[in-house]
Amino acid sequence: MLTPNFDDRDGFIWMNGAFVAWRDAKIHVMTHALHYASAVFEGERAYGDKIFRSHDHSQRFHDSARMINMTIPYDIATLENAKYELLQKSNLGDAYIRMLAWRGSEQMGIGARHTKIHVMIAAWVWPSYFSPELLEKGISLMTSSWRKPSPDTAPVRSKAAGLYMTNTLAKHAAEEAGFHDALMCDWRGYAVEATGANLFRVKNGVLRTPKADCFLNGITRLTVIDLAHDLNIAVEEDHITMDDLMQADEVFLTGTAAEITPVGRIDTQHFNVGPITKKLRDAYSEYVRR
Ligand SMILES: Cc1ncc(COP(=O)(O)O)c(C=O)c1O
Repeated sequence: MLTPNFDDRDGFIWMNGAFVAWRDAKIHVMTHALHYASAVFEGERAYGDKIFRSHDHSQRFHDSARMINMTIPYDIATLENAKYELLQKSNLGDAYIRMLAWRGSEQMGIGARHTKIHVMIAAWVWPSYFSPELLEKGISLMTSSWRKPSPDTAPVRSKAAGLYMTNTLAKHAAEEAGFHDALMCDWRGYAVEATGANLFRVKNGVLRTPKADCFLNGITRLTVIDLAHDLNIAVEEDHITMDDLMQADEVFLTGTAAEITPVGRIDTQHFNVGPITKKLRDAYSEYVRR
């Protein structure tokens, strides 16, 4: 089901230091970011009136920008105030928050050092991607033929818009084949991520997640590793081969939007939503509202 168009909503968007009516937050077609994907973004969730790990997201926003040669013209304190002011004005309750920084239309061509860096923050209600019934049995993933690039091929640790092109292609192919999402491998063939979430597997009571050496080191991923330590669940950060993944007892994904999403099938292999996934999911839902 398609939600109402994202350019046709009530409310406000924080744009370059001021609040503008949602429908008026516009850019020109000659915007550099539109032609060359010169943009970085963040996705965050507010639970009640508190944004989960807000400062960490603002820091990552700055870091992502730096990795693609952009400097965000607002310091972290300003972004933090803007996010909270936006939430207050929007009165949404639990909300998803999107920050975006992009190069403007001052210059056209590959070189873009003289473009202005624009920043916007929007918030809306975005519940779980998946129904509660589906989350009980786990989503399905189709292994993609698109691979995550090596760190010397792209700025892989940045949450840069350009890196999402292959993720969208992978997601479309998976959906067209009747799956919910795609599983992506890295350039070496290790299983690393879904299209917008990090990957964990459980085998004989041990949790494993790939070393974040060629993909976004998710803030949810880091939170889940900490929660696992608190719950005395052994955690390894190491490569996951496809064989290892297919023999797992449990598989789940983590991300701000996805939160903890159990995986019930990868290609033809089925998985149960097991006790460690459930324990971590419950611990995570409690922790984000603490
Ligand atoms: C490609 C990708 N990997 C991982 C994640 C998870 O990151 P986080 O937990 O910080 O939201 C996301 C979501 O932001 C993502 O888009």
